[in-house]
Amino acid sequence: MIETYQARCQARVDAALANLFQPSHPELERLYQAMRYSVINGGKRVRPLLVYAACEALDGDVGRADGAACAVELIHAYSLVHDDLPAMDDDDLRRGQPTTHKAFDEACAILAGDGLQTLAFEVLADPRGNPREIELRLAMITALARAAGPAGMVGGQAIDLGSVGRKLDRQALETMHRHKTGALIEASVQLGALASGQADDIALKALHQYAQAIGLAFQVQDDILDVESDTATLGKTQGKDQANDKPTYPALLGLDAAKAYAQDLRDQALHALRAFGDAAEPLRELARFIVERRN
Ligand code: IPE
Ligand code: IPE
Ligand code: MG
Ligand code: MG
Ligand code: MG
Repeated sequence: MIETYQARCQARVDAALANLFQPSHPELERLYQAMRYSVINGGKRVRPLLVYAACEALDGDVGRADGAACAVELIHAYSLVHDDLPAMDDDDLRRGQPTTHKAFDEACAILAGDGLQTLAFEVLADPRGNPREIELRLAMITALARAAGPAGMVGGQAIDLGSVGRKLDRQALETMHRHKTGALIEASVQLGALASGQADDIALKALHQYAQAIGLAFQVQDDILDVESDTATLGKTQGKDQANDKPTYPALLGLDAAKAYAQDLRDQALHALRAFGDAAEPLRELARFIVERRN
């Protein structure tokens, strides 16, 4: 069931993303190629899936959520391009292919990341529609900017890089993970809910609790997979966290306790959705997928 849903949403967002990389000048061909290379390359598209699933949980029309789905994936792809740079995690492999700075060069990868980030906001800031729609879009832009920026993902990356070789306590590790990965996942759910045009405060609160739990679970599972998966399955080099001396949940708690914690977070996410009916089934499936995935 999740596979069918995933395939349908992936095809939907991939079709929308494919239209975004048209160079405005022949001189920009290489930059756009690097941006396209960083996005159209087989990511799982979990964040766009969450946008669509949150929109559907509120009986929204997914056609209203394409812009938000593209925007969160563009921010995510940019974060990966920069995360892989030599100054950060120094990775050679991403989604089973050479990282953007390996396939192009470092300067091009930095600019491609910059370009993806700003493109995300251009896609969201569509000025068409009635005042209510424009107000919703402004709320989406604000939520995404906050989640991607220094109070969210960028802040988390700064904590991550500042923590190399240090031992973080459990609270500090959770803060790092909630910022670097949780924030964008939370924003994905929020944007999907806003895009539906039918979000009330009670639904938004429940969805926020769901998103907080899966956002943290996502990075806990990423840490687990870095220990116990393999490079071919992951599409990125296995064992890099240990090699780079990063604080992770398995390093802090041990593998079994980290797995139990991921499952506990999944259960918390499912509990947060208890008042929702069948329309929230894709969100429930995604919570399960996040802790069961193998890559
Ligand atoms: C990897 O994210 C980076 C993290 C935030 C943990 P994903 O596991 O969603 O990567 P892709 O998009 O499927 O490649
Ligand atoms: C990534 O965390 C978080 C981002 C904001 C990109 P990781 O550094 O653990 O992600 P991977 O393992 O390289 O995909
Ligand atoms: Mg990193
Ligand atoms: Mg990394
Ligand atoms: Mg990782």
